Amino acid sequence: MLGLRSCASAAAVLAALPHVLAITPEQMLAAPRRSEAIPNRSGTLAAFTSTSYSFDTHNTSTSWNLLDLNTGDISLLYNGSEISEMIWIGPTDTSVLYVNGTNREVDGGVELYMVASIPAPLSGLKAAVTQSGAINFLMNGQRYPNGTAYNEALAETPASTARLYDSIYVRHWDRWLTPETFTLFAGTLTPASDSSNSSSAWSFSGELRDLLAGIEGQAETPVQPFGDSGDYDITPDGSTVAFLTKAPELPYANYTASYIFLVPHDGSAVAAPFNCHNCSATPENARGASAAPRFSPDGSSIAYFQMDGETYESDKNKIYIARLDDSITVTELADDWDRSPDQLRWAPDGQSLFVAAKDVGRERLFSLPIDAGADYVPTNYSDPGVIAAFHILPDSSALVSSSSIYSSRDFYIATPEDKTWLFTSNSTDPELSGLGPEDVSDFWYQGNFTTVHGWIVYPESFTDTSTYPLAFLIHGGPQSAWLNSWSTRWNLRTWADQGYVVVAINPTGSTSYGQAFTDAIQNNWGSYPYDDLVKGWEHINSSEEFPYVDTANGIAAGASYGGYMVNWIQGHDLGREFQALVTHDGVTSTLNQYTTEELWFMQHDFNGTLWDNRDNYERYDPIRYARNFATPHFVVHGSKDYRLPVSEGVFLFNVLQELGVDSRFLNFPDEGHWVLNRENSRVWHHEIFRFINAYSGASGST
Ligand SMILES: *[C@@H]1O[C@H](CO)[C@@H](O)[C@H](O)[C@H]1NC(C)=O
Ligand SMILES: *[C@@H]1O[C@H](CO)[C@@H](O)[C@H](O)[C@H]1NC(C)=O
Ligand SMILES: *[C@@H]1O[C@H](CO)[C@@H](O)[C@H](O)[C@H]1NC(C)=O
Ligand SMILES: *[C@@H]1O[C@H](CO)[C@@H](O)[C@H](O)[C@H]1NC(C)=O
Ligand SMILES: *[C@@H]1O[C@H](CO)[C@@H](O)[C@H](O)[C@H]1NC(C)=O
Ligand SMILES: *[C@@H]1O[C@H](CO)[C@@H](O)[C@H](O)[C@H]1NC(C)=O
Ligand SMILES: *[C@@H]1O[C@H](CO)[C@@H](O)[C@H](O)[C@H]1NC(C)=O
Ligand SMILES: *[C@@H]1O[C@H](CO)[C@@H](O)[C@H](O)[C@H]1NC(C)=O
Ligand SMILES: *[C@@H]1O[C@H](CO)[C@@H](O)[C@H](O)[C@H]1NC(C)=O
Ligand SMILES: *[C@@H]1O[C@H](CO)[C@@H](O)[C@H](O)[C@H]1NC(C)=O
Ligand SMILES: *[C@@H]1O[C@H](CO)[C@@H](O)[C@H](O)[C@H]1NC(C)=O
Ligand SMILES: *[C@@H]1O[C@H](CO)[C@@H](O)[C@H](O)[C@H]1NC(C)=O
Repeated sequence: MLGLRSCASAAAVLAALPHVLAITPEQMLAAPRRSEAIPNRSGTLAAFTSTSYSFDTHNTSTSWNLLDLNTGDISLLYNGSEISEMIWIGPTDTSVLYVNGTNREVDGGVELYMVASIPAPLSGLKAAVTQSGAINFLMNGQRYPNGTAYNEALAETPASTARLYDSIYVRHWDRWLTPETFTLFAGTLTPASDSSNSSSAWSFSGELRDLLAGIEGQAETPVQPFGDSGDYDITPDGSTVAFLTKAPELPYANYTASYIFLVPHDGSAVAAPFNCHNCSATPENARGASAAPRFSPDGSSIAYFQMDGETYESDKNKIYIARLDDSITVTELADDWDRSPDQLRWAPDGQSLFVAAKDVGRERLFSLPIDAGADYVPTNYSDPGVIAAFHILPDSSALVSSSSIYSSRDFYIATPEDKTWLFTSNSTDPELSGLGPEDVSDFWYQGNFTTVHGWIVYPESFTDTSTYPLAFLIHGGPQSAWLNSWSTRWNLRTWADQGYVVVAINPTGSTSYGQAFTDAIQNNWGSYPYDDLVKGWEHINSSEEFPYVDTANGIAAGASYGGYMVNWIQGHDLGREFQALVTHDGVTSTLNQYTTEELWFMQHDFNGTLWDNRDNYERYDPIRYARNFATPHFVVHGSKDYRLPVSEGVFLFNVLQELGVDSRFLNFPDEGHWVLNRENSRVWHHEIFRFINAYSGASGST
């Protein structure tokens, strides 16, 4: 049963909105994007941002909002883009500490309100009030090799642009590595003596301590490129800090191993790890990436995740608690649970943990006591969509920020039995008007060695007595999944509203169906998943369940590994079943895998190195089947993609053109593996849709 603590104003808006509109790329890209909702300590109020875009002025506009957790009412806290982050602070949690992205005194710096000038573009604010009433805070940013905060705006520009390297990892994701690395800075705000001056209630000495100073080898936090303030934590009394760094003694490019270090906030000792390969507390087999270090409410323990495999980024995240006594002891919780959680928080009483994990095409909340044995089955909150973030309120209910294929942001309060919806964007944003659960269904069929799950997304005004061309979308990873979530890059409903029935299958290698299904793709990129997709296509084609899908006029599209798979399909029989194909930042030849940066990735996925295990790389190389390429093909590649370099896209386009296959090449000089700029994304959508619609006959306006 879903409770409803409804917000009268939102209901009024819903009634006024016209029903069932197709969502265009512009609407999808311009619509508000909302952050997670962050509650204050008493759990009565939560803050979130909302950012919209205008294709007329080409500007974003951001507001900070307050969500009343009793009524669902939303009020405006601040309208403007200067506030980049905000946290609740103070003994009573009634004040906020926020980061102002501009700095009156230091070009390229930021300011902490109230009131500290930070001489570099630091972010990721975390803070705790100490017993003496000071605020111990943490922020991350780049440092010079000598530990001084690096401010690009003030840095000297050398006359030459040369870069010289002696070891691997020369570039990563979308940037070339430089001597400046990311670190954690610690600072303290002390109560000002003259408290009558409200703009200077706090004073800051200006001292920022580099908490990674003195660690032997290379250490860096947050872990790049996706690490953020979730990679570190501070005890509630502000005395101790925990942070993640990749194993400082191992080459970053070919291991995923990372450790959690502990360090006093005052910098009085050099940081030391407790779960390193050689550390005495490290559980047997725990050699992989660590994640989500979180101190218990009393600061005596730390909960975290760690994988076993030291070169496998998609291994199972095991749940651990380390007790921080003189001799640290580590225990694993719910060892047998076949899910890989990726978000973690403590209950306020410190007696249980809450984790979120991908589960059957969703991301769901689960809870477990801190003494959960190996066979403990975590309590399942059965969330319908994908949890982006959650916070535990004083009564142990959870404030959840989530999304679904039909709503870009929902806020609700969850208990295992009940969900109290506070906000749904599909009933607030005119762009999303009419989207709802009826736009989506899912199906199972027999795949290569087990049942396989897929999503179906219907277009505007769908009826099952009409037919619609098939859009067959293939996800990247490959250890990833199509989830019931909102995406601004591959938005399933936006594709459907071009006039397609979208089919998005999670073949072998996908996450959220247990570790064995994920692991089975190793050394099998072109076999089991391809076979699963062929069987999925045949299921849609032959099953009486789908009379409305016009497979004869279908198209297939995918990015990254999904682009690899589209290229593999182009060379194989399934390629002849589509009228057009789309590859975004894909793999054209698996022999080119060493042009990337994360060498652990293919050394795991192809089970060895190119020189010792060349067969593994050649076996499922799409370009071996170039002779068969015949289906019209749209190729997109970003020049700043160092994951799969732009030469892969140029390679594919050159081959298609030489073979006389109708094809186009779309390049973005300023985009990496993902197209993020909204103006670029608009072109991406229009050019792809124009190409595929001409072949499929889909009627979407482009
Ligand atoms: C949270 O915000 C509400 C509303 O401003 C306030 O009444 C309450 O005191 C705050 N919680 C705490 C712990 O201060
Ligand atoms: C767009 O943003 C820029 C920079 O903030 C501002 O100078 C300009 O006035 C804005 N334009 C419009 C039309 O709002
Ligand atoms: C914020 O200010 C902008 C520019 O003045 C305005 O267009 C927008 O409607 C305001 N947003 C809110 C939520 O008040
Ligand atoms: C941010 O700082 C600028 C000056 O650098 C100031 O003009 C502006 O009012 C500040 N905004 C907020 C919300 O603190
Ligand atoms: C650290 O190095 C930078 C760049 O060379 C320099 O500007 C800065 O003054 C140095 N800091 C200290 C404390 O020596
Ligand atoms: C209040 O603090 C600000 C910032 O430190 C300072 O500029 C100002 O002079 C102070 N005002 C008074 C009345 O002390
Ligand atoms: C990892 O990197 C080191 C140093 O760069 C290299 O010697 C080693 O062979 C690499 N290991 C693998 C498995 O590639
Ligand atoms: C771990 O042990 C090995 C072998 O004794 C040693 O070479 C290495 O430096 C140690 N690493 C750490 C982090 O202590
Ligand atoms: C959680 O609940 C959902 C809905 O009942 C169910 O489909 C799913 O299998 C459950 N997941 C786990 C790991 O128990
Ligand atoms: C909007 O989305 C929510 C959850 O994501 C869903 O429960 C609700 O039914 C949707 N609203 C409509 C009008 O379909
Ligand atoms: C699974 O896929 C492989 C590789 O495509 C194929 O040889 C095999 O026949 C498939 N097995 C089943 C049961 O479909
Ligand atoms: C290759 O596979 C074997 C057997 O599964 C495994 O023992 C070995 O660790 C793998 N090697 C790599 C580099 O993944």
